[in-house]
Amino acid sequence: MLSAFEKTSSSTPIWIMRQAGRYLPEYKKVRSNFPSFMNFCMNPQASAEVTLQPLDRFDLDAAIIFSDILVVCKAMGVNVDFVEKEGPKLQKIEKYIDFSNIDHSVFENVAEAIKIVKKKINPSKALIGFAGSPFTVACYMFEGGSSKNQNFETVKKMMLQNEELFEYVINKITEITKIYLKYQIDAGIDIFKLFDSWSSIVPSLKFKKYVYNPNIEILNFVKEYSKKTKTIIFPKGCGEKVKSFFKSNCVDAVAIDQYTNISWAFNNAKDKIIQGNLDNYLLAYGSKMQIKNAVLKILHKSEDKKFIFNLGHGILPETPIENVEYLIDLVKGKCT
Ligand code: CP3
Repeated sequence: MLSAFEKTSSSTPIWIMRQAGRYLPEYKKVRSNFPSFMNFCMNPQASAEVTLQPLDRFDLDAAIIFSDILVVCKAMGVNVDFVEKEGPKLQKIEKYIDFSNIDHSVFENVAEAIKIVKKKINPSKALIGFAGSPFTVACYMFEGGSSKNQNFETVKKMMLQNEELFEYVINKITEITKIYLKYQIDAGIDIFKLFDSWSSIVPSLKFKKYVYNPNIEILNFVKEYSKKTKTIIFPKGCGEKVKSFFKSNCVDAVAIDQYTNISWAFNNAKDKIIQGNLDNYLLAYGSKMQIKNAVLKILHKSEDKKFIFNLGHGILPETPIENVEYLIDLVKGKCT
């Protein structure tokens, strides 16, 4: 990991999930030039510009390339649209689809954005690339978008009633994500983060097959392809099942959500870095005193541990910018 991204006794590294986003007026300004969110993601200049915006404004230690986990669906030929206030809408997968024609231009656009950022970013800052886990991406493909009330009924039924199709799609996403990763690594990312936002809905008996194995295949691939690229896995909502990732050689850091007990994570982390886990609602709606108490608690618990400060989930669009400044000052020891 880059030196600024390694914890020293005097400083804890920090970045924020979804740090380039709707809580920033400068983001909204660039975003307003693109009626389609996907076209925005596919524009390397715009994507590079918003990637760097949070670093211009705040004392953060890393940038995360601006894109979305669903661009991989577009590359697979599955149509993706983002509808205002409703979220992503995808062509719903109900039967076998031939995924042998990949649209490489999707990956080339992201790679180009990474290259632009690499040219401009302060070299002491880390650049994070990312993808969605095969299971999480498959959830959007089978549901045709976000799941109503997040209960993922279609996905749960598909896992039982059409196991063959389910496995086929998971395997294809795994294979194509590895191709996508080559583009990101060749373009210059320092760290790769795998977002597994929905694996929490997989029954325990199927966790290894649908979550652990495909994720490890991808992370192993990163390590085989590039010795210097570091890895972060975010198995959101998985509770004690995150433990399985503490044992994996291909994992450098495990991100935990705000519902996971951070002391438990440190006690089980073995040699892994823990990343997390301030409540994103607290940052948006908490008072200064509540924010300070929570941040200091996390800093105290992580004092002698390998740790990256972050939220437990993405920053909410309604988060006041001054709360973000306050958080970073607290972590950097610039205020008490
Ligand atoms: O973190 C960053 O700054 C990088 C950018 C990033 C985005 N999406 C941009 C985005 C990252 C890392 C993601 C990951 C992502 N996308 C995940 C995994 C993390 C998580 O939140 O659990 C998931 C599940 C998605 C899928 C997705 N993208 C949804 C469900 C939505 C709609 C919900 C919403 O917040 O509007 C998106 C759209 C999206 N992706 C936005 C941003 C900034 C908002 C779109 C806009 O600006 O109009």
